[in-house]
Amino acid sequence: MRIFVSSDAGAVAVGADDVARALEQAAIKSGIAVEIVRTGSRGLYWLEPMIEVATSQGRVAFGPVSAADAASVFDAMTAGSPHPLRLGLTEEIPWLKRQTRLTFARCGVIDPRSVGDYRAHDGYKGLERALTLTSDEILADVTASGLRGRGGAGFPTGIKWKTVAQASADRKYIVCNADEGDSGTFADRMIMEGDPFVVIEGMTIAGIAVGATKGYIYIRSEYPHAVAAMNAAITAARRTGYLGERIVGSNHTFDLEVRVGAGAYVCGEETSLLESLEGRRGIVRAKPPLPAHKGLFGRPTVINNVLSFAAIPFILAGGAKAYADFGMGRSRGTMPIQLAGNIRHGGLFETAFGVTLGELVDDIGGGTFTGRPVRAVQVGGPLGAYFPRALFDTPFDYEAFAARDGLIGHGGIVVFDDSVDMAKQARFAMEFCAVESCGKCTPCRIGSTRGVETIDKIIRGERTSENLAVVEDLCNTMKFGSLCALGGFTPYPVMSALKHFREDFGPAPATLQAAE
Ligand code: NAI
Ligand code: SF4
Repeated sequence: MRIFVSSDAGAVAVGADDVARALEQAAIKSGIAVEIVRTGSRGLYWLEPMIEVATSQGRVAFGPVSAADAASVFDAMTAGSPHPLRLGLTEEIPWLKRQTRLTFARCGVIDPRSVGDYRAHDGYKGLERALTLTSDEILADVTASGLRGRGGAGFPTGIKWKTVAQASADRKYIVCNADEGDSGTFADRMIMEGDPFVVIEGMTIAGIAVGATKGYIYIRSEYPHAVAAMNAAITAARRTGYLGERIVGSNHTFDLEVRVGAGAYVCGEETSLLESLEGRRGIVRAKPPLPAHKGLFGRPTVINNVLSFAAIPFILAGGAKAYADFGMGRSRGTMPIQLAGNIRHGGLFETAFGVTLGELVDDIGGGTFTGRPVRAVQVGGPLGAYFPRALFDTPFDYEAFAARDGLIGHGGIVVFDDSVDMAKQARFAMEFCAVESCGKCTPCRIGSTRGVETIDKIIRGERTSENLAVVEDLCNTMKFGSLCALGGFTPYPVMSALKHFREDFGPAPATLQAAE
């Protein structure tokens, strides 16, 4: 009998390791031979620890299972009898069934330490095809897929790769940005822990396409499980000829190294990440030059988010059109959306672009965990705008969110109920920027600190109208005068809180009234 227990950090945090041990004990006691496979998570976090058993009909899930439940669940598994925690066939669970899992197809299914398991589930098909193509053909596929950078900015991946491919240099690099710092996001962590080979495969294809032989994965220090999973997978890939010299019998060389960050949000900004990789303090570099021209160690560098690389194997194996057929407008393919905060069904929901914010929060997410009405939703991390219910018809799409002064960013959605104080949330945005600012430019370094002080005055009820006008002025200066997205985007949560939740800030100043 094969039983699958997640080893994802989110499942381990709620007792998955204890459940695995208790299942082992139950198996020993019963004398039944059992193989316990530690997988990643399926992403239904409110059901973790979720465990599965292989049956002739497919895998059957149980959850959330505690160590105390393990013996009775084990009995139900062996007897095929009913159990209150039985969820039925995993693939039939509606929350999972209505997703389109292109990038996360294997996550929660395979043993993340096994190259063999990865290959048995269509892994390395993208690389095998890439090895039969020219660089131009790979770039054409990536461009035709419409893939845009999943870190948040949504820049076309094909154009970025082409820029690096066309640059002439003695060396080029591939860098994976796994410094996932946005509040409410965990997709990078989840895939690195649950399907690390897909990231390795995507980066290897990038190396072949642009002519780079070395890559780095920069992972935040708060992700020790992901660091361990990526290191183990790199070792396994080297052992089986998928990394190193003459990759699977070809003439291509490509190898990878994991580097661990030290916990600065700004090191997720690409140039500051490169500074950190080079051994210096993470301070933003002015652009141009773009990393595609002059990146790591001054060489042309492809720097992409984990999810961008993880989307590549499907595109090469399944075809660019198969990927581009999903989505809306210029947002092609699928987006792994992360539902978090005060939400009933928190987890990872991969779906084609175009689903509305309301469907995601009310229908898929099931509303708030507290059962109180949803008041605000922050989309796109701490630099993303707050959306009120009135904007729940906004489709999940880069341009649709931008048209409403928001951003989808890395796909994180954080839900708040009606007990939230939006003036305090606006203050938090400024405080976050003040704490995380690298200090290089004045609008961000000084503006955020003045922002905190001014919002504090508003909260205390001091000269509200005048101070609201000061906040608006600071936001304009930060938005248009900052060097990078940290200072430049902090105005989004502040201004959206002011615009949509004006009642939390006291009387309206003339400028804001005019704008409304
Ligand atoms: P950006 O718009 O400056 O650049 C996007 C990417 O395109 C960069 O890699 C840039 O080098 C590249 N690029 C731009 N023009 C190019 C050209 N002509 N040729 C080749 N490459 C080109 O945006 P930035 O500052 O890199 O990212 C901002 C975004 O980061 C925000 O939208 C935010 O959502 C997101 N973000 C994500 C976080 C996370 O945890 N994933 C954390 C914080 C912010
Ligand atoms: Fe540094 Fe802030 Fe300026 Fe970005 S906006 S360069 S984080 S000071």
